[in-house]
Amino acid sequence: MAPKLKNLSVEAKAQYRVPFGTVSITEQARQLIDTALDTKFVTRGKYVAEFEKQFAKLFGTREAVAVSSGTDADALALAVLYDYGAQRGDEVIIPALTFVATGNAVFQAGFKPVFVDVKRETLNIDVDQIEAVITPRTRAIMPVHLMGKPAAMERIMAIARKHKIYVVEDAAEAHGAQLNGQLVGTFGHMAAYSLYAAHIITTIEGGIVTTNDAAMAEALRSLRNHGLVNKFEFQRIGFSAKMNELEAAVGLGNIKIYEDILGRRRRNLLHLIERFKKFDPYFITIKEEQGEKIGPHAYSVILREGLNFSKDQCVEYLDQAGIDSRNLFYSIPTQCLSYAFLGHKLGEFPESEYCANHGFHFGIHQDIELTQLDYVVETVEKFLRLKGHKV
Ligand SMILES: Cc1ncc(COP(=O)(O)O)c(C=O)c1O
Repeated sequence: MAPKLKNLSVEAKAQYRVPFGTVSITEQARQLIDTALDTKFVTRGKYVAEFEKQFAKLFGTREAVAVSSGTDADALALAVLYDYGAQRGDEVIIPALTFVATGNAVFQAGFKPVFVDVKRETLNIDVDQIEAVITPRTRAIMPVHLMGKPAAMERIMAIARKHKIYVVEDAAEAHGAQLNGQLVGTFGHMAAYSLYAAHIITTIEGGIVTTNDAAMAEALRSLRNHGLVNKFEFQRIGFSAKMNELEAAVGLGNIKIYEDILGRRRRNLLHLIERFKKFDPYFITIKEEQGEKIGPHAYSVILREGLNFSKDQCVEYLDQAGIDSRNLFYSIPTQCLSYAFLGHKLGEFPESEYCANHGFHFGIHQDIELTQLDYVVETVEKFLRLKGHKV
């Protein structure tokens, strides 16, 4: 009998048989943390600089600027655009379905989010709908590579070039993803990554912005530190969004074992893609198309239409069996109360709303073994049988 996990404490939930996330803290990271603590060099210093250098090299850009969170990474990257003619209140196009942080970051940077629906098969912005929302005030498109699945970057860049607008990639969930042999995060003018605990490279809390443009990197360094330039001169409306040495130490440890983390996560993703094939009449799941390499963040499952069970019933059954999962986010403009003031109406973003109402995702991280994933598959199978399906 699976343990009953509903309403349990955080500690009890940590005993999930298939937990959502993990953190790899290496021996090297422990040693660097000890040194930082012993010498009391704990605020931004040489470890942060080294982490930025190694991150940029790994992800194929000239510059990387480490910040406090992925949300800050999104917001600071957008705030750089004030150096390039943007005005407060200008518009930034983002997908309606993403983690709410993407929308919040647009507001935090002083812009207005303009939403475009996604496609349920790809979870990514529907490129065919982008041009219809471009106005003279549009400054940027911020595509999100949700679940590490690359957005259609070549087409997005072509639209951006045509309309002379910037592209900031939200690569929070897409470390190591590739499209036609090119790493995501290297298509746009800048890319923002989250380094939060559940992500492929983590600093526990943290974020980082990459770019090939030295002037943009300089603006980012100023923006993370209150808009400071030179010794004590404030040139921009800045943020306080610095990474500290202890976080960078964890990040350096993760970079050292990055190939191993990525390899184990990709093994898990590919195993599930294969094993979930038999569930195709019931679920739309994340798939790797020709020319794509998914950055394996988590595994998404969306119920197909017309089934005799609901997403909640399915999630509840998995939860009872010790399989931790999360909702497949929400349509920010129509399903997040905090955005109600924008006046959007339910039904405006049907695909995003469908994904939110019928979708969930669960972990495929480096500490999950294939036997645990087989247990997920068996549990799903049991659930479907219970609902009268022959699988
Ligand atoms: C798509 C997306 N954007 C932004 C963020 C924000 O990152 P953080 O939680 O590090 O602030 C996340 C977090 O997971 C995310 O999934």
